[in-house]
Amino acid sequence: MVVPNLKEAMKRSKEHGIVQTIHYKIDDNLRGIAKGKHYFIKTYGCQMNEHDSENIKGLLEELGFIPVDCMEEADFILLNTCAIRENAHNKVFGFLGRIKNLKEKRPNVIAGICGCMAQEEVVVKEILEKYNYIDLVFGTHNIHHLPKLIHEILIKQENQIEVFSKEGDIIENMPFKRDSKYKAWVNIMYGCDKFCTYCIVPYTRGKQRSRKKEDILTEVQALKENGYKEVTLLGQNVNAYGKDLEEDYYMEDLLFDVSKTGIERIRFVTSHPWDFTDKMISIIASCDNIMPYIHLPLQSGSNTILKQMGRRYTKEEYITLFHKLKEKIPNVAITTDIIVGFPNETEEDFEDTLQVVEECKYDSAFTFIFSPRIGTPASKMEDRIAKEVKEERLQRLNERINYYSKCANEVYKGKTVKVLIEGISEKDDTKVMGYTETMKLVNVKADKNTIGTIIPVKITDVKTWSMDGEAV
Ligand code: SAH
Ligand code: SF4
Ligand code: F3S
Repeated sequence: MVVPNLKEAMKRSKEHGIVQTIHYKIDDNLRGIAKGKHYFIKTYGCQMNEHDSENIKGLLEELGFIPVDCMEEADFILLNTCAIRENAHNKVFGFLGRIKNLKEKRPNVIAGICGCMAQEEVVVKEILEKYNYIDLVFGTHNIHHLPKLIHEILIKQENQIEVFSKEGDIIENMPFKRDSKYKAWVNIMYGCDKFCTYCIVPYTRGKQRSRKKEDILTEVQALKENGYKEVTLLGQNVNAYGKDLEEDYYMEDLLFDVSKTGIERIRFVTSHPWDFTDKMISIIASCDNIMPYIHLPLQSGSNTILKQMGRRYTKEEYITLFHKLKEKIPNVAITTDIIVGFPNETEEDFEDTLQVVEECKYDSAFTFIFSPRIGTPASKMEDRIAKEVKEERLQRLNERINYYSKCANEVYKGKTVKVLIEGISEKDDTKVMGYTETMKLVNVKADKNTIGTIIPVKITDVKTWSMDGEAV
């Protein structure tokens, strides 16, 4: 049993050594060990976790597992968890009750937990004490051990708890079962070294480790050859890509080289404002296949709060960058993340945030109430602001965000834009759906055989969260 340790996870020292690249290969004696068995994965959290689940599915299918949509039919149930806010935690602990009921009826079902919550010392302790029907816990640093762990459970019939606090090497050549045939996530870096004071990610994902450019470019090239139209380069802080590599090769260089592969659409998330260089901006502006869409988290518009958050920029610097992006990248859409109710955020601080929203008129935003995370500096700050005040601020903020989302969509009415059609519309199954270059969801009147292609669409109506259109 290896359990996580918060102190170890917080360390960033030389003893971590240089990150190696290891090539994964399944052990021949593990191939097919779960033949005929069914698996069910529930994924919480960000794109990183979604993509990890694609990796986990790939590993499980090499073992012979077959996917099922219904948990009750599964022999192996896995929760890939998120630790970012308290409600993410609560959802997972709520789901564990359902698993318990199922295990009472079918004791042979294997139940596992992985992802960011599994990296938390307090969570694993609680699981071991109160949820002893969980058979498997593994973390974000040892996904590639999953086949071995499953094998141990199957042959020894005893639970497996293996969570490393220190990130290890970069594992290449892992199998992925991608959810889409047209757009793909591509990791370009793991971990985060920013240590924003409210955020748990640097502890759950370890230190920043950039993938080698050759491995990224080979992956994008292969995706293109397999018919993929779009890649999203993934990392917690993609603008810092390369800063940990020995070679002088950074995000702007990577964007340029990925653009040269000729894949039709390139996106990237998430951009920390701190690392946005002028060179990056000019490459985004000049390469047609790099999409004019940037997620630029603000977090707060108050300089006092930004400082306490450890965000390393001021409101003024953020606004200058915002306008530079708008000016240099034609038709760019910019979205953001905002936290309200950081410890002792005053009404004035909050109004500063509203003021930035009035100035930036975001295309859309994810807004959150601050949630204290164990181990982070902000969780130790005394907080005198009442919950009701925080909720009321969130409402006021959302009202403005929604207003500007609708305004940003209004501009599209009557225009013709390119949409990558991904599938049948969830709202209306006579329609198809997809996203514009600027990441706007469009429900489109078009033939189903347009799925998987980029087509011109005339926008006929706009709402706050989506638009309607027809193929032209
Ligand atoms: N790497 C990304 C953020 C990943 S987390 C970045 O730096 O932009 C996604 C969002 O969750 C953050 O942008 C932040 O707005 C929010 N978030 C993170 N920790 C939080 C916490 N403790 N409470 C509330 N919101 C939080
Ligand atoms: Fe968290 Fe900040 Fe890193 Fe984003 S940049 S993952 S908010 S510590
Ligand atoms: Fe959640 Fe981990 Fe992503 S905490 S937001 S799943 S990196």
